[in-house]
Amino acid sequence: QEAPPAPAASAAAPASAAAPAPKVYVVGTDAAYAPFEFQNEKGEIVGFSVDLLTAVAEKGGFQVKFQNTPWEGIFNALGQGDRDLLISSITITDERKQSMDFSDPYFDAIQLIAVKESSKVAKFDDLKKAKVGVQTGTTGDEVVTKLQGKTASTTKRFESTPLALKELEAGGVDAVVADNGVVIHYVANNPGAKFKTVADTKSFAPEQYGIAVKKGNAELLAMVNKGLAAVKADGTYAAIYKKTFGT
Ligand code: ARG
Repeated sequence: QEAPPAPAASAAAPASAAAPAPKVYVVGTDAAYAPFEFQNEKGEIVGFSVDLLTAVAEKGGFQVKFQNTPWEGIFNALGQGDRDLLISSITITDERKQSMDFSDPYFDAIQLIAVKESSKVAKFDDLKKAKVGVQTGTTGDEVVTKLQGKTASTTKRFESTPLALKELEAGGVDAVVADNGVVIHYVANNPGAKFKTVADTKSFAPEQYGIAVKKGNAELLAMVNKGLAAVKADGTYAAIYKKTFGT
């Protein structure tokens, strides 16, 4: 008894079955944080972080796709596996390290105060009783909460940093505390707002941004760190930095 002929379909299996497409890692970013991550006129997610992680992925041998993800839910999205990676100007903190793993640092930052040009605020302490806008759940929120107390009605929390800065322009808050790069970019690009910046290196600790993976995802973290080391070593990082910040 002869074996039945193999079904014709097996002779020409779809290419995808033979060579599965490489996995594309989904990257979450809160794209309202120029010049790091923001949407251009076409609605595409662009900026320093996008250029950097795209280059990192190329060197690390993986593929990425960016997905706009509100800051409010960004860490949960990673924890639940809806996102494989986060790059969103995320400061590496001990508290966050409990629930996610971070790449090697890729950017130095520090909090910076934005006020109206006419403001007399000269240091962070001057904001103890002032109305201060922050983005909810950021390191800016953390420092202002520490200064003013957990229940202070003067701490005004916003969904995004641009919304806090808009409120400063409208006069609804006296100051905004946020990452220096974003504040400097906003002030430079919105001369009509008549803002100035107040630095206070005595009150604010240095911060470093990291790329986050789900806790325990050592394989992906190793690929990220490998790619990051490569782009730092071969001048790609410096070129992206120059493209973004002009120096
Ligand atoms: N570096 C600050 C933090 O980690 C703010 C980051 C906010 N990023 C954003 N894309 N909105 O808390």
